[in-house]
Amino acid sequence: MEIMRCEALRKTFVTGGGEVHAVDGIDLSIGKCEFIAVTGPSGSGKSTLLHMLGGLEYPTSGKIYYQEALLSDYNDNQLSVLRRRRFGFVFQSYNLVRELTGLENILLPVMLDSKRADQAYIDRVVDMLQIGDRVEHLPGAMSGGQQQRISIARALANKPAILFADEPTGNLDGKTGREVISLLKYVGKELGITLVLVTHDLSIAEQAQRILTLEDGKLVRDTAAEVQS
Ligand SMILES: Nc1ncnc2c1ncn2[C@@H]1O[C@H](COP(=O)(O)OP(=O)(O)OP(=O)(O)O)[C@@H](O)[C@H]1O
Ligand SMILES: [Mg+2]
Repeated sequence: MEIMRCEALRKTFVTGGGEVHAVDGIDLSIGKCEFIAVTGPSGSGKSTLLHMLGGLEYPTSGKIYYQEALLSDYNDNQLSVLRRRRFGFVFQSYNLVRELTGLENILLPVMLDSKRADQAYIDRVVDMLQIGDRVEHLPGAMSGGQQQRISIARALANKPAILFADEPTGNLDGKTGREVISLLKYVGKELGITLVLVTHDLSIAEQAQRILTLEDGKLVRDTAAEVQS
């Protein structure tokens, strides 16, 4: 079953040096609970694609559907509600609030949405990410891998349908990075969350069910499509 789709998606940046076609006509269907890695060289448009799918950046042209809803029909406020309630984001930098404990960081999106935390669910996420012994600490007292796991728990706090991650292992050593991704994969599967992961690291991409390869803003390879055809 499809959860998200884009058609003829484009993003063109106009700069002093001319136009840059960061994403140059991408058609894509993302299945519910799929784990997709997006890979490709630096500058190939991975982050731009992820940002558009996640409603963080507007396309120049093309369509994005989340389930049956066309994202361009949403106003800014509706889009931010969609992002907050249905999408989760993880970036290379953990973006934790230094003055708050791990648990306070995790609960921040729930509090910003004026909702009560589902304590049993949060406990389960913390447990699955193996950070139970870190949640009372401040980020400054945690390793990079622990901070990233806190930021993943924060991204999951609102029970998103899709988790978007842009180079989440970029600041971690290889071993820690692979551990974080296998936890992410496990959590995604247990909770039934769709994962869209940008990485230029092939050993990380290979943990996904499906690998999309971008070059110059174009989708040049889609391993799931190859398997099906
Ligand atoms: N705000 C912007 N203004 C102008 N050009 C941009 C902007 N954002 C991205 N670009 C350009 O669009 C292209 C794609 O950038 P993008 O950040 O999506 O690549 P990427 O695949 O994520 O690269 P990396 O692996 O280095 O993160 C690049 O040529 C980049 O310079
Ligand atoms: Mg990028």
